[in-house]
Amino acid sequence: QQDPRLAGIASAIRVIPDFPKAGIMFQDITTLLLDVKAFRDTIDLFVDRYKDKGISVVAGIEARGFIFGPPIALAIGAKFVPLRKPKKLPGEVISEEYSLEYGTDKIEMHVGAVEAGERALIVDDLIATGGTLNAAIRLLGMWISFNPFVLLTFTISSIYQGRDRLGDKPLFVLVQSS
Ligand code: PRP
Repeated sequence: QQDPRLAGIASAIRVIPDFPKAGIMFQDITTLLLDVKAFRDTIDLFVDRYKDKGISVVAGIEARGFIFGPPIALAIGAKFVPLRKPKKLPGEVISEEYSLEYGTDKIEMHVGAVEAGERALIVDDLIATGGTLNAAIRLLGMWISFNPFVLLTFTISSIYQGRDRLGDKPLFVLVQSS
């Protein structure tokens, strides 16, 4: 049976057609942030599921993983690591490239932010092609080799075809979007 909080979360996400370009149904989570109950329920659902699981690091993907990751990290007693767009982090970084519809992009993480043997959660708001999430997995996977990742996302697009690429990594998704 579905958790009753999920319907409120789904309806608090505003869908804006044709943004940023024709054909994209943009899942706008800024309206969820305006709804205190829906925002709190979102964090609580993740926290309830992943507290007491030995998770020591929450890695948030820029930009919206920076909104949802820190409250989850604090509530479960884990550190927070930002995975950033290129040339934003000031220290020594490791990078991982991923494909976009046209061209490539990169995400970066500070060297020394995580250590071998840590157990990580990766947090983002949306999986579309899965390219960003897979890059984040590869980035953390350079340091964390044995522990499974848990991937948190609010919305997963029906265009997503790459579930198999995540292998045995558990993926916890709150809402399926169109
Ligand atoms: C969006 C979203 C995910 C990514 C998903 O971020 O927040 O991070 O795209 O797409 P994918 O599954 O096809 O990789 P975006 O690239 O728009 O960056 P932003 O959050 O900095 O605006």
